[in-house]
Amino acid sequence: MKKILFVTAECAPFAKAGGLADVSASLPPAICGYEIRTIFPLYGIIRDSLRTLFQPCFSFSCDFDGKRRTAALCRAVYQGRYFYAIDAPEFFVANGSGRLYLDAAADNRRFLFFCRALLAALPIWDYQPDLLHLNDWHTSFLSIMLRHDKSEFFQNTKTLLTIHNIGCMGITRLPAVLRQSGLPCSDFLTGPFAWRIRNSNPLKSGILTADFLSTVSPSYAAELATDGPDKGNYLSRYIRRRSGSLVGIRNGIDTDLYNPATDASIPYRYSACQSESGKAACKHSLQNRFGLCPDPNAMLCAMVSRFCEQKGSSLTCTCAEKMLRGGAPLQFVFLGDGNEPFLTEIQRLADEFPGRVSAMLHFSQSLPPSVYAGADVFLMPSLYEPCGLGQLIAMRYGAVPVVRRTGGLADTIVPYDPAADQGCGFLFDEYSADALMASLTETLSLYLHDKTAWRELVARCMSFDSSWASPAKEYGRLYGRLCNE
Ligand code: GLC
Repeated sequence: MKKILFVTAECAPFAKAGGLADVSASLPPAICGYEIRTIFPLYGIIRDSLRTLFQPCFSFSCDFDGKRRTAALCRAVYQGRYFYAIDAPEFFVANGSGRLYLDAAADNRRFLFFCRALLAALPIWDYQPDLLHLNDWHTSFLSIMLRHDKSEFFQNTKTLLTIHNIGCMGITRLPAVLRQSGLPCSDFLTGPFAWRIRNSNPLKSGILTADFLSTVSPSYAAELATDGPDKGNYLSRYIRRRSGSLVGIRNGIDTDLYNPATDASIPYRYSACQSESGKAACKHSLQNRFGLCPDPNAMLCAMVSRFCEQKGSSLTCTCAEKMLRGGAPLQFVFLGDGNEPFLTEIQRLADEFPGRVSAMLHFSQSLPPSVYAGADVFLMPSLYEPCGLGQLIAMRYGAVPVVRRTGGLADTIVPYDPAADQGCGFLFDEYSADALMASLTETLSLYLHDKTAWRELVARCMSFDSSWASPAKEYGRLYGRLCNE
């Protein structure tokens, strides 16, 4: 059986900052016919009950940034599966910030080490992967490093780089990267000004050196090749250069984990046939928990996100404020962390409309299912969205998505069509609060005036196939091609 090493900076439930963690946890076990191992850094922020599951398999050393460093390759058994990690406290524990990611310079150093250490560990482990499946900029150094590795051991190892978000490229100062990586400057000299600016862009280097590229939805693959900060993000010409080696495969979710009929973390469980009473009970409980008026008739809209420019949270705030001032029977729940000024804007809205708007502005691993279960509507007005998992989880729990038609949102949400009684959500095109408001007004009108149509819409959302079944087959075929099967 061909061997695939899935290399990632995040993996749920161990270390999660965003959707990459969910994909790393749920995609590998969904792909059949390959021996796939998942490996990530053993961060200090992994909670103790999970961290202690990792037992060292062996220790090893490697040269990095002018010094000999030691590390260990560890293995954990969790829910019947093996997970692998590189333990090097000097790099992954001693940061004290409590956050998975630090600043660009520190993260470049940590992930350069992780990649270097991995290549040093594999021959000792006697694990010769046919394919390294890399994810985002953090692990894209591996494709550059392999180009320089002349050892027999890696001669047949191919690389596949999956781009989850081209908005994060890992740009940092070049001299430190050259010193730490020991890689030649020529690898980074791809743009006319690259050297003069003295910046390193690891994602760009990965795009140019990986054997094959993938991204997380077909529409996003097309957007990546298009100019614009919300599309190819200045890398579109490099993407176009590689257009014959790029494929878009939409993400799936773990439909066993996210199942309102069995999920122990939500207050009441329900399947599609009793969704009305189940969701009403979950909504009441959510209203209580978030301090909202216990009004069953208000349309409860939720946004579970990382509040930043990409996610369109200011569109939601402007739209919510206008509609609430106009007396629309709406409620809003915001859950997640993010950046300023978006967090302040959301908090201001919550202060201004107590009982109608509520926010928990921190990252929570356990709360999102209760929010999806209690919400009537899920908002995702993203500026761009490579795939998006929130809309898939929301549909599974019967929250109707209202989203901007971009990337994976356009690929997964079939627009509601009253004439044909089809579709699962509401989409708008222009990135503006007014366009979102028009869409949300249409949604509210259906919610208030046509209970039967709404019930059917919720049922269609809940039966949408968001599983990995079909995308995992596509990855399997791609692995086969790359492993010369
Ligand atoms: C990133 C993207 C998101 C995608 C996720 C997993 O977080 O922003 O759209 O679903 O990665 O691929």
